[in-house]
Amino acid sequence: MIDRRSVLAGAGAVALMGKAARAAEPDAFRPGEVWNDTNGVAINAHGGGLLRHAGRWWWHGEHKTAGEGGNTALVGVHSYSSTDLVNWRDEGVALSVSDDPDSPITRGCILERPKVVYNPRTRTFVMWFHLELRGKGYGAAQAGVAVADRPQGPFRFLRAGRVNPGIWPANATPEDKAPGTTLARDFPGGQMARDMTVFVDGDTAWHIYASEENATLQIARLAPDWTRHDGYYVRALPDGGNEAPALFKAKGRYYMFASGLTGWRPNPGRVYVADKVTGPWRSLGNPVRGSEEDRKTTFHSQSTFVLPLPPQRPGAEPRFIFMADRWRPENAIDGRYVWLPVEWEGETPVLRWRDRWTLANGWAGK
Ligand code: GAL
Repeated sequence: MIDRRSVLAGAGAVALMGKAARAAEPDAFRPGEVWNDTNGVAINAHGGGLLRHAGRWWWHGEHKTAGEGGNTALVGVHSYSSTDLVNWRDEGVALSVSDDPDSPITRGCILERPKVVYNPRTRTFVMWFHLELRGKGYGAAQAGVAVADRPQGPFRFLRAGRVNPGIWPANATPEDKAPGTTLARDFPGGQMARDMTVFVDGDTAWHIYASEENATLQIARLAPDWTRHDGYYVRALPDGGNEAPALFKAKGRYYMFASGLTGWRPNPGRVYVADKVTGPWRSLGNPVRGSEEDRKTTFHSQSTFVLPLPPQRPGAEPRFIFMADRWRPENAIDGRYVWLPVEWEGETPVLRWRDRWTLANGWAGK
């Protein structure tokens, strides 16, 4: 089956069409197309996240390279900045992989889903990421952390490891702790941490990650400098098989987009709601509104982040952008970005496909 959105014609024709369309509509998002930076080079920031700092947007993501090997970290985390979310300036490699074979982030490790937050108390940018040690597949399941005093870096790698060794989750039941569970197995050495995000709520930051062999999400509070866990954490949606978590706060509640567990292949998206970050989380089903194919594949993409936009005027409905990756595992660098406006059906966030949309028209009716 040919995807009408990704395969239009020969590559040259697509490039030409892209150029003409961009000139006519310089402020439009084009989900799934090649997005060039202001140098005309395809943006290389996969599994990424955004933050706003000093009047600019900053985008950090995995720098992938060509071919299948490009899924491993051969370069590091790339950063871009923008004033309008559409035109992105290349800000270079924010965190470089290490040339030291003994470093946990040595070239050839797997370094995924970096998320950068700014800690106003320490005036430091803190980057968390999913780290897999070189040559160990996805077995290490660690969280890494790096810091910088500017969003473009250079970030300094601090450490990586599993989460909260020797500490039980605050909501673990006696059955959860019983010998034989994954939670109990990993208690001494720390909990597994794969797909992840960082969510800042007021002055508290939370690390949300796929744990327990990806069966269960865990939500762990960070210490005040946000470079460590403080020991408080909970299990969320036990045995729900969620990954690719992306949180946001709207209408006084917490929402989370996530995916199922099918590796690089897309699957039906999920959305959850809770009154507190730590849950309990309740399913609101599949947020995708559209064709069967759209619903089955989340528009051929997997969530990575939700961006809250600054309010247009006091009292206006808050606006959010859903951000996802359309992975191309066979040629990692060619992964695409799918950004869509978050719409609402009452209290349920929903997503609809748009070929082209802008901040001005994205929320203007269906
Ligand atoms: C996905 C995950 C990606 C990457 C991939 C590897 O499920 O969301 O970040 O880890 O698996 O197969």
